[in-house]
Formats: sequence, C-alpha cells, structure tokens
Amino acid sequence: MTYTNQPLDGSAYFLYHSIGQYDGKARDSLAALGEFTSVWGANDDEQWGMALGVRQKFIDGWRRLINAPPGTLTTTENVTTSLHSLISSLPDDLLRGKRVLVAADCFPSLHFMLTGMAERRGFTLDTVPLRQGAAWVDDEDMIAGWGADVGLALLTWVSSTSSHRIDLEALVAHGRKMGSLIGVDITQAAGLLPYDVLDPAVDFTISTSLKWLCGTPGAGVLHVAANLARQCQPELRGWFSQPNPFSWDLERFEFAPDARRFDHGTPAIMANVASLPALEWHAGQDMGALLAHNRALTGMLIEAVDDLGLTLATPRPEHQRGGSIMIALPKTIPAGALLQQLKSDAVFADARSQTLRLSPGVLTTQKGVEKLLQSLRLATIPK
Ligand SMILES: Cc1ncc(COP(=O)(O)O)c(C=O)c1O
Repeated sequence: MTYTNQPLDGSAYFLYHSIGQYDGKARDSLAALGEFTSVWGANDDEQWGMALGVRQKFIDGWRRLINAPPGTLTTTENVTTSLHSLISSLPDDLLRGKRVLVAADCFPSLHFMLTGMAERRGFTLDTVPLRQGAAWVDDEDMIAGWGADVGLALLTWVSSTSSHRIDLEALVAHGRKMGSLIGVDITQAAGLLPYDVLDPAVDFTISTSLKWLCGTPGAGVLHVAANLARQCQPELRGWFSQPNPFSWDLERFEFAPDARRFDHGTPAIMANVASLPALEWHAGQDMGALLAHNRALTGMLIEAVDDLGLTLATPRPEHQRGGSIMIALPKTIPAGALLQQLKSDAVFADARSQTLRLSPGVLTTQKGVEKLLQSLRLATIPK
C-alpha cells in the first residue's frame, strides 16, 4: 500500500477506539523493552527485582488513573480474562438462580464468555436489547430490566459501536437499590474521560491499556473493591495468589488478602514493560486538554455528518458520548471501499459492518479531519 499524502504524522489517525498513538510511542516502548532485555539477559540475579518492579509501577499508574485504593488492582491479559477471573471466583451461591444483566451493545467477547458460563454457574444471562433501529441501548431500558433478582450487572461505560456513554451515576444508584454486584467495562474511554472507582463506588472495573492510553496488547487490568475481593476465591490460582509467592508448603496455600489473589502463575510482565512508557506519558498530560481537543474535532465531525446528510450513530450531547463519532453509512457507500479510499489518502479509520468508526486523539488535527471529510464528501456524491 502506498500513501499519496505522506508523511504519516498521525494528523489523520482516527483509530483511538482501537489502538492509541502518541508522538514517541514506538521510541519509548522500544527503549523500555531494550532496558528490560538487557537486564533479563545479564548473567546475574537482578531479573525478578526489576521485572516485578516494572509491573508494580504499571499497577500503580493504573491505580492513580482510576483512583483505585492500594491492593485493589492487578494485571490481566485482556478484558475478557479480567471478567472471567472475577466471575469464576465469586462464591458459588452468589449468582445461582439469579440474572446477570448486560446490554446488547456490550463488547461481544464478554457476552460470548458470559453465555458459556451461564449454565455452569447457574445464572441466566439477560441481554437488554436495542430498540428498533437504535445504535445503543437506552439507560432507561437497562434500568427497566434491572430488578432485585439481578445478581450482577456488567455496565459498558462507553460502547465500542456507538460511543454511547451511559449515565453511570444513575445506573449505579439503581443497582445499589437492587442489591446487585456492579462491574464496569471502561475500555472505550479509559484515559480520555475521568473515571473514579469510588465515585460512584462500583464493585469491579475492567479494562485494557490499548486505546486512549496508547499501550500494547496484553496489558489488561482488573480492579476489585476490597470488600468483594475478600469474598472471592479465584479458581485460577497459584503461587502468585498468595501473600508470599515463595510459600511452597503444599498444605498451607493461602490467598493474599487483596487483589493479588487474582494472580496465579508467573505474571506476563512483558506487556507491562512495553505499556508503562505510555502510561507515564499519559500521566504527564493535561487530561482536560486531551478531552477538549477530542471535543473540538468530534464537534467538527458531527457538523459534517449533518451537512452531508449522513446518519450519526453516536449521541449528540457531549456528556452522553465517549471519544468517537460513528456514522451509519448508507448502502450506497460500502464501508470497505470507503476505508480503502481513506487509507490510500493516509486517513486511518475502521468500520463494523456499515458503521464507520472515527476516533480523533492527541495526534489527530483539524487538517486531518478536513482531509477525512474531503473523501467522505466525494463518497456521498451520487455516481
Ligand atoms: C468496550 C470494550 N471492551 C473490551 C474490549 C477488549 O476486550 P479484550 O481485551 O478481551 O479483547 C474492547 C475492545 O475494543 C472494547 O471496546
């Protein structure tokens, strides 16, 4: 593939819902990996101190980002394993005979996993549907379907197909009245919108570092509130689930009192090494400015969608959306062909079926948006 409009400076990069980029990401990650491998390959005994130290920095960086108290957050491979780890560790009677509530626009991987778990764990998976023609599940419908028989509700803070942002406060307030466990998947807005595990207080939070945080694959996280963690007995457990991994007496396995109990074998530290520079970069940014930049560019996109007579598949009010603008493309504009055209113009976006996903981040510029709109305008002209 050759790009007609070099250089690839990120000005027309719209994929922050998938992989986030910042200036220097490759350089920083390479340097961190280089440092890691030089210690790892040295003929001495410095390896574990360094590796576990990096992992702890990653954990602490994430803790600061979402205000998770010490001992309530650990690393995972991805969001799906985070959720699996939590649910499979709950006391057996907690979900038996109850409903687990999700919205139809939750991330499919989590739905696949929950469907497979339902029978074994004895719960009914209840998926709140989209209204006819709607691009996201209404909070109202979620609340209407949420009764006292809901053992656990998984909330998707921001949807990956519409960028709809739920009213977290209202949903959590309702869930508290129903006495349900409440977990939140924050993947689509972590690092872009402020999130606090204590406000409103939720039972668990799951995410990955790939998107607005600009990390790498494999760098997932699981936050579990301390009082819930104490009741959890993870099925997948091992030496790292203990207060002291080096306690090897076979008769004396003991769970750590905190989120370490969700660890098991040797942690997969490489993803933390590769992602830590991005977390540190992010921690040095003005989050208000990052968001204001996104709001300015997404505002331009909404205006253009209206001008071009296209259908917006994202809520208009800022407080109801994450960082993306989704467009429901008409049949006359096949998404595949449009994406190919965009790519040849060095404009990077993607689509889910006919839904075009556009997520402007720190590197995206007004000029980049104009370039995207030029192609979009051409595509809307009847042939
Ligand atoms: C809302 C949401 N949850 C989860 C994920 C990723 O899940 P996993 O890390 O299990 O692949 C994504 C990825 O796009 C997402 O948008």
